[in-house]
Amino acid sequence: MSKKWLTLVALALVVTMVAVLAGCGGGSAPAKSATIKVGANFEMTGGQATFGQSSVNAVKLLFKQINAAGGVNGKKLELVVADNKSEPAEAANAMTKLLTQDKVVAVVGPVTSSDVLAASPIAMDKKVPVVSNSATNPKVTVENGKVKDFVFRACFLDPFQGTVAANFAAKSLKAKTAAVYVDMSSDYAKGLAQFFEEAFTKAGGKIVAKEAYQQKDTDFRAALTKIKAANPEVIFNPGYYQEVGMFVKQARELGITVPLMGGDGWDSPKLAEIAGAKALENTFFVNHYAADSKDPDTIKFVEAYKKEYGQTPDALAALAWDAALMVVEGIKKAGPDDSVKIKDAIAQTKNLKGVTGTINLNANHDPVKSAVIIALKDGKMVFKETVNP
Ligand code: PHE
Repeated sequence: MSKKWLTLVALALVVTMVAVLAGCGGGSAPAKSATIKVGANFEMTGGQATFGQSSVNAVKLLFKQINAAGGVNGKKLELVVADNKSEPAEAANAMTKLLTQDKVVAVVGPVTSSDVLAASPIAMDKKVPVVSNSATNPKVTVENGKVKDFVFRACFLDPFQGTVAANFAAKSLKAKTAAVYVDMSSDYAKGLAQFFEEAFTKAGGKIVAKEAYQQKDTDFRAALTKIKAANPEVIFNPGYYQEVGMFVKQARELGITVPLMGGDGWDSPKLAEIAGAKALENTFFVNHYAADSKDPDTIKFVEAYKKEYGQTPDALAALAWDAALMVVEGIKKAGPDDSVKIKDAIAQTKNLKGVTGTINLNANHDPVKSAVIIALKDGKMVFKETVNP
């Protein structure tokens, strides 16, 4: 081979190598994307669909505002929504999709405790932080005494919520006896019922009846007839709006006139549609925030949300805004590429002013926040009182 010939071959080789290198963009290292991808694992369809829909609305609005102001560290936020269909198994599937296919750096959601409990092991495994806006069961963040290092929440917990409900029943409603009616397919409902019972008994009350149902049940009359026979002064049903709406309607049809109470799972515009405004008179539930709050940040949020969507934001929307803020603050501190660093930054969340209060995470990844009691009047949710921890 001539020398000239050899030089030509060498040159061709170099050209090919450069082309190959350029083509695969630096080998197998994760490609730095132009946007910051954040996942939303939410109940967009199914029995808890209004929860997921309001949550996603709020996060979209927050990202829209942040992007309009230039994004985070010069990059735009991109929300990738996965529907968990209000089913724990689907919540796990949605998480797998977000983490392996979409490669999001953090996830907001799901809403319900059972959905978070089913989906979070995948996030733990893939080392990507998850911030639930609203899952209130203690096990969401701590199980068997161990803090789940990639799991966080933006809301108070059910031991507090159950105590608030029980004290309201015992002190404000002056009930001495209560019945408890529990959705046994929900980790949230089972826990909250237990915390209510403990606190109500401690406040001097007596549980006179206890009945169970399952999600997707539609006929509550047999259990309600038994509860009526026990003559309780209040009935506590810590379920979700779909079943609760029918429970309230059927209770009133059966001539049960005592106050009916529940927890945050009652918060849906569908509740009044299903139960009817009249049946909802004399009912109360515990919630995370009241849209008619006088806090300037809350007012700003409520106005922006109303302008965007033509409706008043419920607690899920407000909490999702705050959960997404926790993620955004984490990304600001840790940079957009390393989910483990983002997790560490989220764990440090302190004095973060949200629309549902100020978030200070404790060592269990839980904020300590106040609750509100909501009463239903003419089918509308009316703020009654705030209860501090
Ligand atoms: N706390 C509920 C749960 O853990 C979810 C929820 C929160 C629903 C707030 C409505 C409003 O399952």
